Amino acid sequence: MPRHVVAFEPSGYSVSVNSTTTILEAARSLGLFIPSDCGGQGTCGKCRVTFRPVSIPTEKDLRHLSPFEIATGFRLACEHVIDRRTWVTLPQTVQAKILTSGKSKPMKRQRDPGLVGQKGVAIDLGTTTVVAYLMDLQTGVQLAQAATLNPQIAFGEDVMSRIDFATRAESGGAALRERILSCIDELVMQLLTIAAMSPKVVSRLSIVGNTAMHHLLLGLDVSTLGLAPYKPLMRHSVTSSVESLGLKSVGSAEAYIAPNIAGFVGGDAVGFILSQGLDSGKDTILGIDIGTNAEIVLAHNGKAVCCSAAAGPAFEGARITHGMRGQDGAIEHVHIDAPENPPDLFVIGDSPPQGLCGSGILDTVAELRRVGIVDRKGRMYPSARVNRGEQGLYYVLTGSVDSDTESRIVFTQSDVRQVQLAKAAISAGTRVLMEVCGVRPADIDLLFLAGAFGNYLRPESALRIGLFPPIPVDRIVPVGNAAGEGAKRLLLSSRERAHAERLIDEVEYIELATHPSFAQMFMEATLLESEPQGMV
Ligand code: FES
Repeated sequence: MPRHVVAFEPSGYSVSVNSTTTILEAARSLGLFIPSDCGGQGTCGKCRVTFRPVSIPTEKDLRHLSPFEIATGFRLACEHVIDRRTWVTLPQTVQAKILTSGKSKPMKRQRDPGLVGQKGVAIDLGTTTVVAYLMDLQTGVQLAQAATLNPQIAFGEDVMSRIDFATRAESGGAALRERILSCIDELVMQLLTIAAMSPKVVSRLSIVGNTAMHHLLLGLDVSTLGLAPYKPLMRHSVTSSVESLGLKSVGSAEAYIAPNIAGFVGGDAVGFILSQGLDSGKDTILGIDIGTNAEIVLAHNGKAVCCSAAAGPAFEGARITHGMRGQDGAIEHVHIDAPENPPDLFVIGDSPPQGLCGSGILDTVAELRRVGIVDRKGRMYPSARVNRGEQGLYYVLTGSVDSDTESRIVFTQSDVRQVQLAKAAISAGTRVLMEVCGVRPADIDLLFLAGAFGNYLRPESALRIGLFPPIPVDRIVPVGNAAGEGAKRLLLSSRERAHAERLIDEVEYIELATHPSFAQMFMEATLLESEPQGMV
């Protein structure tokens, strides 16, 4: 089969590939990042690049790209194979703002004189970001932190795309494992450089991640996580030497990988529960960590139940026409004064708006609903800033209402539908747990929100569309990177590690797909309105 060289700009990397390789696959083989929410299926429209010589646009190019983009040479990287020498220009990769800090309840621990001088690294291995903390094992003091995007993103943005890649591609799981191991090694080296310390001082690592990250790190088969009933191959924690795990940055440390509760409630949720004491207290506490899958925990009367709601990536900016990660240029908050006026936009960084991140997406829907451009069923109505395109109505956030320019940022009827589905999944999952425990909204003492979206969202917007049960705003508490806080506790305390092991049996997992109330609750929760107080 003929081979051709493809060169990527501005990095200058090049590779020789056979003529059935797509531009997206070639970029992945070099570890170069091209947004690819759908994993290369041609359905998300995010993998837009320019390349020379340019090819005739395909049907999917025409479906996802504007006439302006087509005319200026943009094409979908997953749609075009490299059948001659090719030069590709990648979009400028901007590092997302990574949430590293978090709140945690105080932890009792005794200083062990045997640990003097010993350090450890706590790692929150997220699907999108990886955060590492260098800790003093004796004092419990944090010495340094480092964070990066998860390099597995090159193989798909969300967990399901990566499970799909690991299952279908030859050596897919090995490629994902190799990427995350080298990412952890790099973060550990960064931490040691910041703290001016030798790798020899590190004697322990703790790692929390969702169940798929746990399995991929350990080289386990993830195929069962991609199919109902989404059973994990392994739930318990693993303790091994860093050498046998495959890490090279430290010589002879012990690595602890937190246990999983279920296929989509993993060690990161265990870290969340531990760091906030969700299972140990008298209060009724709801904990929600919103990602592609929202992990929801409800503690009531000394019992904790949990579920995973398939929210989809809408609140991470994916599958939204102008969605993006929370980084410079992302609109993080929106206020609409009146339907005919341009909205007030609050943009991250000192740069022109480029798109909407999760909190901006939530605000947009809540504000469109508040001013009556969108009704409770999510239907958009004509208005001074609403236009009609081939795909239906859309609201114009920036730019001229009438002219189709590349710089215009819009929110479409279909974007509203994506948010409705995400909102309905989270809201219905919460309601199922409340039904299981016999809890009404008024009973909820606190709602802890973990993760980046939970940290930055405007609670009033979430309550307006019924994302959360109707509780007073002051009971909603963002706790930041709660999984990372859990990783630190697991690093520092054998008691916490024993507690984590017990949690996998003590926290009752509710499978939403088979719960008799879920389908009805999901349908009701698609309405964009605050839920009535006595809903359970
Ligand atoms: S359309 Fe190409 S990766 Fe989604």
